Amino acid sequence: MAKLTIHPDKIQSKINSEIYGHFSEHLGRCIYGGLYVGEDSPIENVNGMRTDVVEALKEIRVPVLRWPGGCFADEYHWKDGIGPKENRKKMINTHWGGVVEDNSFGTHEFFELCRQLGCKTYINGNLGSGTVQEMSEWVEYMTFEGVSPMADLRAKNGHEEPWHVDYFGVGNENWGCGGNMNPDFYANEYRRYQTYVRDYKAGSHIEKICCGANVDDYEWTKEVLKTCFNHSPEALHGFMDGLSLHYYVHPEGWEIKGSATQFDDAVWYKTMSKALFMDELIRRHGAIMDVYDPDKKIGMIVDEWGTWYTVEPGTNPGFLYQQNTMRDALVAAITLNIFNKHSDRVKMANLAQIVNVLQAVLLTDGDKMIKTPTYHVFNMYKYHQDSMLLDSSIETELIGVDDTYQVPNLSESVSLDKDGVMHITVANLSTDTAYPVEADLGRFAGTQISAQILTGEIHDMNTFEAPETVHVQDFDGVAKTQDGVSFTIPASSVIHIAVK
Ligand code: AHR
Repeated sequence: MAKLTIHPDKIQSKINSEIYGHFSEHLGRCIYGGLYVGEDSPIENVNGMRTDVVEALKEIRVPVLRWPGGCFADEYHWKDGIGPKENRKKMINTHWGGVVEDNSFGTHEFFELCRQLGCKTYINGNLGSGTVQEMSEWVEYMTFEGVSPMADLRAKNGHEEPWHVDYFGVGNENWGCGGNMNPDFYANEYRRYQTYVRDYKAGSHIEKICCGANVDDYEWTKEVLKTCFNHSPEALHGFMDGLSLHYYVHPEGWEIKGSATQFDDAVWYKTMSKALFMDELIRRHGAIMDVYDPDKKIGMIVDEWGTWYTVEPGTNPGFLYQQNTMRDALVAAITLNIFNKHSDRVKMANLAQIVNVLQAVLLTDGDKMIKTPTYHVFNMYKYHQDSMLLDSSIETELIGVDDTYQVPNLSESVSLDKDGVMHITVANLSTDTAYPVEADLGRFAGTQISAQILTGEIHDMNTFEAPETVHVQDFDGVAKTQDGVSFTIPASSVIHIAVK
């Protein structure tokens, strides 16, 4: 029996809803065909946005959306994507699949999508190949309220009112596709570019995100923070609100990656082990951030995370289209538990990517759409958004097929929402063993229990032919005990229990 100990009186930190954020890039069928089909499409849409996709995304309460990239961001020139569509520049998307980008989805369309989703906006600017003036004018175009060349241009293009930019990324992966910069060079560029990401509207602040490290490049974190803050430590807040981190799980390494659907138990545990590495990354990058920012005012922004496999057979290798199984559901569940537990430092995270790319929550094929196992995890975990993390721990044992990739059998996190409801999420990483769990809820007064489960054989997935193979079910296996509740979690499963 695994004991889950919860201290309802020990509130740790607020779980920012943005931890459940998403990422959309001009890549493959993420934007075109996935989110946006255009006003004239026979696929049901509102102002060009797919109705089925928007409705599904509203259900999981997408809190924030990052756009337009990714690597695409540092090649994107925003003026190509405004004005009458027939006049917009056509170009080749050199990064992703060599297809024609007709710029029919641009700034206005992005804000319209976020309006329909009811989510916050995260724009990623171009530092790698764009100018300071270009970045500065984009911010002016989006947010300036008075009379100015860019505000006038926005009005001429049909949007009199300024929009609200919640987050602005000053470059993306500038250690790689965003310009191959050294950390001190980037940090100085960051200092310069961010100066012109102005808060035009009184009382409103654009949170500025500095490009952080690739995986475990701790030198990048150290150097960027050193260069940024040596010269103006007093300007800490406002100068940098967030520092990003990118980490993808490639089960068989960057070169081979591995199939999304065909894997054995050994690869399953390898995938889990690599997903759990997120915890070490947050701790170690966080320790460096603590040196410069002991009060944790700067958020760690994990704005790209998820599984990255070999593309589905027969699809464009540059489109990064992959299927999604119970393995992805488990990766999502344990990663979100990790983010919850580090919500004192992690202020936003964006799954890569929202539709049809990498670990997508939705897949589309023409007018058809399916929800992936990962989608269902986000749906079960949405109750953690803006709730308070509670101190909790669970007894675990190490499991795996051999000594190489041993992982703890269980993962959990617990929060208390604003209505006083306790939300417990537990994941069982085993391919074949169920575990009984006894949860001690401390002095928590709640007595009404409801629970849901996502469970299946490790390879289970949803397809366009069988869209409901993996779905959330009510779980009636939770029993009240003297100190709390007990239940048995089946192999390869994720459970959400609400107690009020
Ligand atoms: O998400 C796909 C790509 O991965 C992004 O464009 C880039 O930032 C990262 O390398």
